[in-house]
Amino acid sequence: MMTKTIAAITGVQGYVPEYVLTNQELETMVDTSDDWITTRTGIKERRLLKGENQGTSVMAIEAVNGLLNKTNTQPEEIDLLICATVTPDLVFPATANIITNKVGAINAFGYDIGAACSGFLYALTTGAKFIESGTHKRVVIVGADKMSAIVDYKDRTTCIIFGDGAGAVMLEPTENGHGIVDSVLRSDGSGEEFLHMKAGGSRKPASLETVKNREHYAFQEGSAVFKFAVKNMADISEEVMERNNLTGEDVAYLVPHQANKRIVDATARRMGIGDEKVMMNIEKYGNTTAATIPLCLWDYEPKLKKGDNLILAAFGGGFTWGATYLKWAY
Ligand code: UT7
Repeated sequence: MMTKTIAAITGVQGYVPEYVLTNQELETMVDTSDDWITTRTGIKERRLLKGENQGTSVMAIEAVNGLLNKTNTQPEEIDLLICATVTPDLVFPATANIITNKVGAINAFGYDIGAACSGFLYALTTGAKFIESGTHKRVVIVGADKMSAIVDYKDRTTCIIFGDGAGAVMLEPTENGHGIVDSVLRSDGSGEEFLHMKAGGSRKPASLETVKNREHYAFQEGSAVFKFAVKNMADISEEVMERNNLTGEDVAYLVPHQANKRIVDATARRMGIGDEKVMMNIEKYGNTTAATIPLCLWDYEPKLKKGDNLILAAFGGGFTWGATYLKWAY
């Protein structure tokens, strides 16, 4: 008999902004082609948040309000909100505080987690611990990024990949085993050189010089990151499956960070699962960093059944990576 308290996802909601940046439009901005982007990444279009004074929180608030609605939750019932993002509205205060204020979550405390593309899994795992410990009953986990704020639209190696979006899930306690069962998280700071933003932090604050040198954008050595991502995302997915005695047949869906279709395909092959069991929406949103996994869950929610075994997996800047095994709760 199972009596252990674990955290169940009891709702998911996503939000993507209206503006669609297509591969065709990118062809007019940099030296690239729809064919190159499609075959190298799987991306056809991505969404951009346009307009003055529109930060990441704008999308996160839409997602959280939708989530509260859907799960019949009053904002004051939220105990904790964690926001994973690398594109906070401001350096401080935390975007989580902006969100809790705007949605009316007056009893919640909140903070941000910066773990780039693995941010959602880091935040989910952390939030689950607050539930498991019994101290918190309703925890909202947000993954949101406005990557267009830090993408250099003159750099063809990065501007074709990233997009803007937000996703949120509700975590609540359960004793029936249908929830977050296990997570493996890792990081390796030596990956900094391959994926980072050069200026705007305390090491090199913004100056005329840093702006002139285009140092306020995401810098990526794509092929180096690609190699680490393929190996580590597959390794860690295999590790979480082995630890929980799962084979490919037991898994209903792989929910992978959407960085590049080729990285996802390699992970699925290693796990021994076919394409039909891989959540993919990279073609319409690109890489939305912390938002990819909740946006996948949101898109595939109608197909999910209670008890489905899901493996969530991510790799990103830091380097950071991780995999979570959960049983879908509804
Ligand atoms: O999300 C978190 C972490 N990030 C990732 O996981 C991303 C990992 N990396 C990638 O997804 C891929 O490395 C990219 C999609 C960024 C690039 O694909 P690639 O197959 O690794 O290409 P590459 O960087 O090795 O470049 C191959 C060629 C180069 O030309 P030469 O040197 O062979 O003549 C590039 O200059 O493709 C060229 N190229 C492009 N051509 C057309 C690079 N970007 C473009 C482009 N359009 N946008």
